[in-house]
Amino acid sequence: MAARLYVTDSGRYFHAGTIAIITVGLPARGKTHVSRSLCRYLRWLGVPTTVFSVGNYRRQRLGTMPNDFFSPANEDTKEQRLTIAEECLSDMIDWLERGGQVAIYDASNTTDERRAWIQRKLNKHNIQTLFIESICNKQEIIDSNIRSVKISSPDTNTPFSQYVGWDPEAAVRDFKNRIENHLPYYKTISDPELPFVKLMNVGEQLIVNNVKGYLQSRIVYYLMHLHIQPRIIYFARVPESLNESSYKADADLSSDGHKQAEALKNFLVDYRKQQQESGTEDKPRPLTVWGSTRKHASQAVRHFAEDDFLVRALPLLTERNPGECDGMTAEQIKASRD
Ligand code: SIN
Repeated sequence: MAARLYVTDSGRYFHAGTIAIITVGLPARGKTHVSRSLCRYLRWLGVPTTVFSVGNYRRQRLGTMPNDFFSPANEDTKEQRLTIAEECLSDMIDWLERGGQVAIYDASNTTDERRAWIQRKLNKHNIQTLFIESICNKQEIIDSNIRSVKISSPDTNTPFSQYVGWDPEAAVRDFKNRIENHLPYYKTISDPELPFVKLMNVGEQLIVNNVKGYLQSRIVYYLMHLHIQPRIIYFARVPESLNESSYKADADLSSDGHKQAEALKNFLVDYRKQQQESGTEDKPRPLTVWGSTRKHASQAVRHFAEDDFLVRALPLLTERNPGECDGMTAEQIKASRD
């Protein structure tokens, strides 16, 4: 993406469309998941993006802290919490001023006061803001987020993790206390002037307010498709075609290829049945079969469609066009370059 640059009052350059995304929400609402996943997506689009996590700054500076440290009511830790939040915010502004395009400030930011403070700082630097508030009122989603991300994920099971060596039930109780401490102070965003997106139960409902601009719209579009429930993705090689070596031929499946596609379908059907019978999966999940728009792929997924599976053709899955190397083996391509 070609970046248009302009000079700010401080004499530094900005990408046109520099954005700071500010997360909002109680603990265990999937803010970090949203931040990281959005960051990956934007980088994939070619947009320089970084997550600035206040939790990581705190862990690096203070290590793990008891849950009353985080309580907005705790006047003794207020200064420390603000200093860390400020350090993280300044680094983020600095990064944006040095050429970053989208920065994601991952923290709870649950009060109007904290959000206004952030907004003022960013306004001074002419950085656009977009608030993403994650609201979750389904206890089962919150519980599963606490257990899978906060308590037992290998990602968080580091020396910095709050709960290394804890009894899982005690850890869950402790984390729930941390949420309880925030509840009386939490105010959902209500300022109609603010650009914000409210994500309800990650994926169930999306409220969009005052969001303008190309990149912001891409972000909203991405959030519309986001979820936090784990899903399983199976990858399979496309079955054999009548002409394996030529891209241009776009050949039909061979008869062996049809047998492979049928075997693949039967394998998957049996495997999913076993998973459900063994209790690994509590309820049957819908299965969608994705393939490229090439003939061999669409003929392969037709075997699934005949059994009433949902099938989709996606051009993005199409193999690369090898151009002048079409029809050549890897050895021949190598030899032609030597
Ligand atoms: C933390 O220190 O872990 C989180 C701080 C915040 O979300 O504001």
